[in-house]
Amino acid sequence: MRAHEAGALHAEGGHHGPSWLSAPQDVNALVPALWARSVRRGQQGALSVAGLDVRDLASEFGTPAYVIDEDDFRRRARAFKAAFGDVFADLCGGADVYYAGKAFLCTAVARWIAQEGLNLDVCSGGELEVAIRAGLPGARIGVHGNNKSVAEIEAALGHGVGRIVVDSFEEIERVAAAAKRLAVMAPVMVRVTVGVEAHTHEYIATAHEDQKFGFSLAGGQAAEAVRRILDHRESLSLLGLHSHIGSQIFDTSGFEVAARRVLELHVQVVREHGIQMPELDLGGGFGIAYTTQHDPMSPRELASGMAQIVARECQAEGVPVPRISVEPGRAIAGPSTFTLYEVGTVKEVLLDGGASRTYVAVDGGMSDNIRPALYDADFSCTIASRSSQAPATLARVVGKHCESGDILVKDEFLPSDVRAGDLLAVPVTGAYCRSLSSQYNHTPRPPVVAVSGGVARQIVRRETIEDLLALDLD
Ligand SMILES: Cc1ncc(COP(=O)(O)O)c(C=O)c1O
Repeated sequence: MRAHEAGALHAEGGHHGPSWLSAPQDVNALVPALWARSVRRGQQGALSVAGLDVRDLASEFGTPAYVIDEDDFRRRARAFKAAFGDVFADLCGGADVYYAGKAFLCTAVARWIAQEGLNLDVCSGGELEVAIRAGLPGARIGVHGNNKSVAEIEAALGHGVGRIVVDSFEEIERVAAAAKRLAVMAPVMVRVTVGVEAHTHEYIATAHEDQKFGFSLAGGQAAEAVRRILDHRESLSLLGLHSHIGSQIFDTSGFEVAARRVLELHVQVVREHGIQMPELDLGGGFGIAYTTQHDPMSPRELASGMAQIVARECQAEGVPVPRISVEPGRAIAGPSTFTLYEVGTVKEVLLDGGASRTYVAVDGGMSDNIRPALYDADFSCTIASRSSQAPATLARVVGKHCESGDILVKDEFLPSDVRAGDLLAVPVTGAYCRSLSSQYNHTPRPPVVAVSGGVARQIVRRETIEDLLALDLD
């Protein structure tokens, strides 16, 4: 059989899939690393989460639905805060963890973050409004964005945010002018593009940076940004430098190069201007397991690795260690959530050479999870409403949208008796799924159902077709 570059096929000859995917001994077994801690198989082999049967959740809230294990989310948030706090305690009096709200934000989640003692990173006026509505004190909010509007800057300053991460020369002037108008000092950080791009297991260190975020380090713009900020000492207070190098990072070598480079600039600024910059933000991007191919580090391993790098660099340069902050998003939100779908059709599609592929179509798709289409991201799934004794077959899980690229799970082993009416669960959908969702094909977006201690509630309700039609004015 000819190899097919689009993914797995199966034919008389057997099963093919990506090299990291192997046929499971037991197709019903859950891979613990991919699920919130309370998820298990219960009665009739159906999944339960926080003691609740997913069949009951589906009856009560419908499908598709994002199901978030609140305690799991909170535990991950606490783990980051504790790990970075402890590990950096001796070095610089602790570290601050800003949850990156872009991963997933709603009022309830902003409250959880506040209650667990984390700070929040927002990157739009809308995310700021959520934080304000949740009662998060301004001092615990950091504001990102490469093109913040004057209204957004004023709203941030009006709310007394703890930091605005400036991203362009125009923005320095805008923030300074807004601060003057409002008669406040604006605490700012400089987003530095350090020429390190990290993605999954690799990072690339380059001399120049071709992307929209930040000020180039190599080109000298970052140093110039510092100078211009210092020209506005009456309205801007420079907290320090900020660097974020990418997403799904699995080792600290990318951070090592980035931290070294950004600390070199830190030292240069301290020496050139005779000032202290009290803070340094090393961004987010900590990798998580979406499938068995990923092997993420724990928050403590990450914190220890980063602390060693920062300590070594500061010692070598003879400067005090600034207070460190990090901005994890997916590592907190991702694994606490799964999406529950109902299977609608199962189709055996014949391919060249006599092979075939099983297409399992569910009642959601790229509108609730764009990541496979956007980033070629891998996900896994399992049958959720029952277990099965049928042999495993390699399948592709697709959505219901009018796009052939509407694929949710490219390759996964499912029981060969998977059929219409079965519930299917896709784990690790808590980050960048709801927040990147759309209403493509006029599809109302699923609810977010939070479960804790045997109780389920919607923290974001299901959208209705009336919600969508209400936007049409004619
Ligand atoms: C500046 C910044 N900080 C933090 C994050 C969070 O990244 P992750 O969710 O991968 O941890 C992002 C993601 O795009 C980002 O741009």
